[in-house]
Amino acid sequence: MALELNVNGVDYHLEVNPRLRLLDVLRDHLGLTGTKEGCGEGECGACTIIMDGVAINSCLLLAHQARGKKILTVESLAQDGELDRLQKAFIDNGAVQCGYCTPGMLMSCKALLMRNPNPSEEEIRIAIEGNLCRCTGYTKIIRAVKDVVKK
Ligand code: FES
Ligand code: FES
Repeated sequence: MALELNVNGVDYHLEVNPRLRLLDVLRDHLGLTGTKEGCGEGECGACTIIMDGVAINSCLLLAHQARGKKILTVESLAQDGELDRLQKAFIDNGAVQCGYCTPGMLMSCKALLMRNPNPSEEEIRIAIEGNLCRCTGYTKIIRAVKDVVKK
């Protein structure tokens, strides 16, 4: 079926299988492989993207359900070869270890900061409660977001 998607500010006109998930279209049709698949069933948050300002699991959405929405993936964060301040804060705080959770974690945190530029620690914890990280113990991730809030 024909599908029009707006991803990272670009309009795409695609021909896709109607059963494809948004995650599949992002990775396999648009080459935006920053978004990762972990569990494939809404449990890990590795596939988190932002849709109309809200962090969602792209493995749980059919691609056509994103029609008419504004999609942001992790590739939208760096601009002109310069990392976003949230990405820099993750690096500075050692909040990236194996990195598999990182794109999803960044997008959950970014969605929080877009709607609330000054979140409390509790609000940061709630924002990432759907994102599993097996490496960092979360403390460094929370510290990274707090660093951005301070600046
Ligand atoms: S891959 Fe989507 S939540 Fe795990
Ligand atoms: S850095 Fe490895 S799962 Fe989070």
